[in-house]
Amino acid sequence: MKLGVNIDHVATLRQARYVGDIDAHNVEPEVLRAATICERAGASGITVHLRADRRHIQDADVYRLRQQIGTKLNLEMGNTQEILEIALHVKPDDVCLVPENRREVTTEGGLEVAGQLDALRPTVLRLREAGVRVSMFIEPSREQITASHALGAEMVELHTGAFANSQGEAQLAELARLRDAAIFANSLGLQVNAGHGINYTNIALIRELPNIVELNIGHSIVARALFTGLEQAVRDMLSAMRQP
Ligand code: PXP
Repeated sequence: MKLGVNIDHVATLRQARYVGDIDAHNVEPEVLRAATICERAGASGITVHLRADRRHIQDADVYRLRQQIGTKLNLEMGNTQEILEIALHVKPDDVCLVPENRREVTTEGGLEVAGQLDALRPTVLRLREAGVRVSMFIEPSREQITASHALGAEMVELHTGAFANSQGEAQLAELARLRDAAIFANSLGLQVNAGHGINYTNIALIRELPNIVELNIGHSIVARALFTGLEQAVRDMLSAMRQP
């Protein structure tokens, strides 16, 4: 399993104090520096979500990361014309299409792919024509996987939020759903990724899932980084992912 580190919350901290030019006097912490540290610690990619409300990552961050990082850039985005045009200009390695709702604290559920085929088709097509690999952030259901495959996405990212927010038997049931979804998506030839709410504890269950190529993890790593530093927090997650 590879690790993509979502560094949105480095920008959340910056925006809590500085809104405007990301290069203005005194602005910190630097998003690019965080990305470089994650890469040095062994991350396989950097993930950012350019939200319509620009609450954390700014356009300039995305352009700078594209130019400066040495691994791959995974851009998470809602299906809007404005963000699509930016994505086509930036040409990240991967785009992950996510649902976006202005009032949510974080991405709350998976993208309803099956119910929005007509709205998503042109976006997937344009990204693929630009050489960008497309992923769909979906609930672990066969219906959403089938729809993602039908649209021509190369990857799905299984939403692990329900798993992360449950405990005991309920959590094991969510894990079983993830397992079934990972096997099914893999059988269709899709690359299977997973993310949301994965932390240093529940990774012990997630790492047992079959067919998962990449995890995208943000909050728990950035939170730990306050106490250990970012490099150590990424290294700790990588070793937790690999423990037998
Ligand atoms: N993957 C996707 C598609 C997301 O939207 C998010 C949250 O922005 C993550 C992964 C990372 O989730 P977390 O911050 O809970 O690790």
